[in-house]
Amino acid sequence: MPDLIDRFQRKHTYLRISVTDRCNLRCLYCMPEEGMVFMEQHKLLSYSQIIEVAATAAKFGIRKFRITGGEPLVRPGLEELIAGLSALSGVEDISLTTNGLLLASQAEKLKQAGLKRVNISLDTMDAARFQFIARRGNLDKVWEGIEAAVQAGLHPIKLNCVLLKGVNEDEIGRFLKLSMEQPLHIRFIEYMPIGHDDDGWRKHYLPLSRVLEEAAKLGFPLEQEEGPVGSGPSENWRIAGGKGSFGLIHPISEHFCKSCNRLRLTADGHIKPCLYWVDELNVKPALGSSEAMEQIFQKAMEIKPENHEMAALLAGDKQSHVPTERRMSQIGG
Ligand code: 5AD
Ligand code: SF4
Repeated sequence: MPDLIDRFQRKHTYLRISVTDRCNLRCLYCMPEEGMVFMEQHKLLSYSQIIEVAATAAKFGIRKFRITGGEPLVRPGLEELIAGLSALSGVEDISLTTNGLLLASQAEKLKQAGLKRVNISLDTMDAARFQFIARRGNLDKVWEGIEAAVQAGLHPIKLNCVLLKGVNEDEIGRFLKLSMEQPLHIRFIEYMPIGHDDDGWRKHYLPLSRVLEEAAKLGFPLEQEEGPVGSGPSENWRIAGGKGSFGLIHPISEHFCKSCNRLRLTADGHIKPCLYWVDELNVKPALGSSEAMEQIFQKAMEIKPENHEMAALLAGDKQSHVPTERRMSQIGG
């Protein structure tokens, strides 16, 4: 089977698989606090259907899968999916993005099924602020999840920190120190305008140049490095001598679409060639036919846009396509 190469010569080796749009939190950058309407259960792909899609992806040279949500750990029996993905030929890496709340009880069994590593959301180290950002849940549980991931040998562990102007920007120094003291990788992420009212986004968007400014202010000597496994678009740094490291994901201030190697599969069975735009391909009619499934992946390469134009939105300029109406939780980040 040929490689998945799009019109801009980008080779695709990575599929993000969302298994549910449900979540036990309501992070302010992702969902409204009340009134979220979730996908009807019967519309979700079953694990065996997801594996069928992933098998075609693997034939086309996809080597890396990431399981996302919503919160993937609220869907029961995830180890069954992980084991199925692990069994596909050519698969090199299976990772999971989670808010960590349910990880303490599941880390070991997920690792045994073939999970290699996790990204855990941690936007604040302050319990009251956690309630403000995530609106539910509890920060202690997240730390328990992180600890369980360490114990289970899920490595490297990355902590996702979405920086929000006026909310957690005063914790940058604290996160940098954490990267120095613990063998953890902190990923600072720019707030993206996905399925959002633009005004709220503009109010809280913070360019990640702030992180390097803060490190300089604190006198931390920085070394740029390649970064841990699966660093993708992240720009990676270490405070000299630090046990861990940190990365900057800045889709808006410096977009990385030129090296994009990823596709996304939504929980309701749509391939999204780009996170940002409305265009997507329904895999359900192709289930049961490997030829039809192959055509969907080929079509995704034909329609994948060059870039996302989020910077144009920030500048108030007109955009060339229609943005998606899905929220982040309905795409999987
Ligand atoms: N902007 C940037 N990152 C986001 N995430 C969710 N919503 C957004 C957004 N609007 C990311 C966070 C979270 C993961 C599940 O998805 O990193 O940790
Ligand atoms: Fe849930 Fe993740 Fe969205 Fe937060 S960002 S509400 S943890 S899906």
